[in-house]
Amino acid sequence: MQTPYYEYDIALLNSILSTAKEEAQRYSYKIHYALKANSNHILLKEIARQGFGADCVSANEIRVALENGFPANSIVFAGVGKSDSELEYAISKDIECINCESVQELEVINQIASSLGKVPKVALRVNPNVDAKTHRLITTGLKENKFGISLKEAEWVFANKNNFNHINFVGLHFHIGSQILNLEVFKQLAIVVNRIQKSLGTINMPYLNLGGGLGIDYENPLKNPVPNFDGFFRTVNEHLIPGENQTIHFELGRSLVGQCGKLYTSVLYVKETFSKRFAIVDAGMNALIRPALYGASHKIENISGGKSDELFSYDVVGPICETSDCFAEDATLPKTSRGDILVIHSCGAYAESMASDYNLRERPRSVYVGIEVLA
Ligand code: LLP
Repeated sequence: MQTPYYEYDIALLNSILSTAKEEAQRYSYKIHYALKANSNHILLKEIARQGFGADCVSANEIRVALENGFPANSIVFAGVGKSDSELEYAISKDIECINCESVQELEVINQIASSLGKVPKVALRVNPNVDAKTHRLITTGLKENKFGISLKEAEWVFANKNNFNHINFVGLHFHIGSQILNLEVFKQLAIVVNRIQKSLGTINMPYLNLGGGLGIDYENPLKNPVPNFDGFFRTVNEHLIPGENQTIHFELGRSLVGQCGKLYTSVLYVKETFSKRFAIVDAGMNALIRPALYGASHKIENISGGKSDELFSYDVVGPICETSDCFAEDATLPKTSRGDILVIHSCGAYAESMASDYNLRERPRSVYVGIEVLA
């Protein structure tokens, strides 16, 4: 098959979805799938079919979620910069909740809702100032981040609710970051949420959304394909004090789809320079930007058999005219030659969805295995 391409294991996706669902159901938690992680339609149909809600961050994501089987009343809409037309679209579709990120946005929602004769459900995204202890660029819940509104402003909003007579305030939303493996962080979040709910009096409201962020094992994807949903939900359950009639929502992206996707790429050239040995492959940062953007590390395997037991060190780089177009520095691989196929693991999340045609490269196609479960 022509490389590069993404391969999705639908059977693995299904088993990850089932585990997540089972663990969440233990506590009557509701999961919305964060479409930004991957909006591939085959995956979306499967996730919708399994009964997950959707977490969207643009009108296009809402439209695609609706087209692929997510009911409007299971769709939540977040984002710091929702345009007027996006809000108009979301409100007109009667989605489950708009997660509002500023007082100005609240005013715009109120105005648009009034002109449409609607009263949308809105949750305030509060910035909890909890350190997710993950990469700086995927941390969202610190006070210096652009996300959410401060506790002070939230207090003002709830004290002045009557100014917003076209808004149905249903509760609070939080999201502190992504690729979080340290569960202690979610304990901290739960504790802070308890405090915030107490001071805002939102405990009597029906909606509490703790966002997403559960990480996956990029180092050992084959050994640990299923993320620690059990520990994640258990930690929240142990520390969160919800209101009696509150439904707890989550927005999981990476943990649901990250391990079901791989990127296949061919070695075009092996080039030895003064100090380095490069395996130059036909996939570039346009197909997987995570290493370039966050210094992320994905397991790489040579599946063409490895011609000897001897291991060598390679920088695995793409064809794009940027030094950051590098998937791994000093990766240890068996002797690698032109024509070998390399597999880059854990590409189900934030690979295809962040792909571009930079350098006018084609985006990789997608193929599917384990698809018979769809029948
Ligand atoms: N909810 C909100 C409001 C979010 O901003 C995000 C992710 C999620 C849920 C889903 O988070 P997850 O469960 O996937 O961690 N491109 C980066 C990740 C960016 C995450 C952005 N927000 C990466 O490749 O690591």
